[in-house]
Amino acid sequence: MRVLGIETSCDETGVAVYDTALPGSAGLRAHAVYSQIALHAQYGGVVPELASRDHVRKLLPLVRQTLAEADLKLEDLDGVAYTAGPGLVGALLVGAGVARSLAWALEVPAVGVHHMEGHLLAPLMEDDPPEAPFVALLVSGGHTQLVAVDAIGSYRLLGETLDDAAGEAFDKTAKVMGLPYPGGPQLAALAATGRPGVYKFSRPMTDRPGLDFSFSGLKTQVMLAWRDSDQSDATRADIARGFEDAVVDTLAIKCERALEAAGSDTLVIAGGVGANKRLREKLHDIAGKRGGRACFPRPALCTDNGAMIAFAGALRLQAGQYETAAVKVTPRWDMATLPVVGETKPEFQQ
Ligand code: KG4
Ligand code: ZN
Repeated sequence: MRVLGIETSCDETGVAVYDTALPGSAGLRAHAVYSQIALHAQYGGVVPELASRDHVRKLLPLVRQTLAEADLKLEDLDGVAYTAGPGLVGALLVGAGVARSLAWALEVPAVGVHHMEGHLLAPLMEDDPPEAPFVALLVSGGHTQLVAVDAIGSYRLLGETLDDAAGEAFDKTAKVMGLPYPGGPQLAALAATGRPGVYKFSRPMTDRPGLDFSFSGLKTQVMLAWRDSDQSDATRADIARGFEDAVVDTLAIKCERALEAAGSDTLVIAGGVGANKRLREKLHDIAGKRGGRACFPRPALCTDNGAMIAFAGALRLQAGQYETAAVKVTPRWDMATLPVVGETKPEFQQ
């Protein structure tokens, strides 16, 4: 089954084709991402209306480009998957409208995919994929969650952030120190040149039991440290290193606890912050020490992309789970309400 995937939930237009007939990573026939970063940079954050308009401009050319790279025609598609939420409502509607129209014209089924389920399943597109049950750490710009995955589509929330998401903390901290939007990857690059231990920030909420997170206090600690420093380039790098170590340690401590609580040795990591090199090393270490493993998507599939939507959608379409032709999006959507793949519930009609 060849499925076109469309991602337009925020500031990246992503398109991909996933072919379930091909094994492992070969299934990803082509994928392309157009990032709107330059468009939003001057505003210091995503401007929803500008995001929607840019998706309108870029989506169809990207669909054509991706099909050409996959050496496929529109008629070769057996299904269409698109991000139906959570995300910016206008941006989501662009992807949903195009996906539903294409599916209707081609007379193939279409399915709305939960963006975070897309992230969560992305590591399963790689070779030698993990099998459920496992524990997933979702770390993106909008979410920080630990999820027990009992089966594909069966998600139990173990813990989540009470305030800022991990990616948001990276972005805000970067902004405090004068780095351009989106600061996460730039802060990480700077941290690589900083000295460990010069600045030591707290590991929030690790001194008590539980699997929830809180990152907003860290951002304040950095702000005060930066304000009271000489604000040199070397200091900026040292603070970045101290901040990154604090976030990585905090995430690692909670992941270890979550594995313990779930009785699992398999950790799956997904979402933009999963591209962070130090986080990847640390989580490989803690899973390895337990005799298990940590599974990440390749860095390009950690951040928003159409491949994860094509893949997650393909799993549901293969199981006969798709909806009627209505263009419907769900900007706020709890992942725990999703049906298990293969167990059709009323919201999925044939
Ligand atoms: O998953 P994603 O692309 O979009 C959302 O669904 O939010 O995640 C984007 C987030 C941003 O906050 C970005 O700063 C962060 O992921 N990010 C990173 C790195 N690459 C992206 N944070 C830390 N280190 C990185 N290398
Ligand atoms: Zn995302």
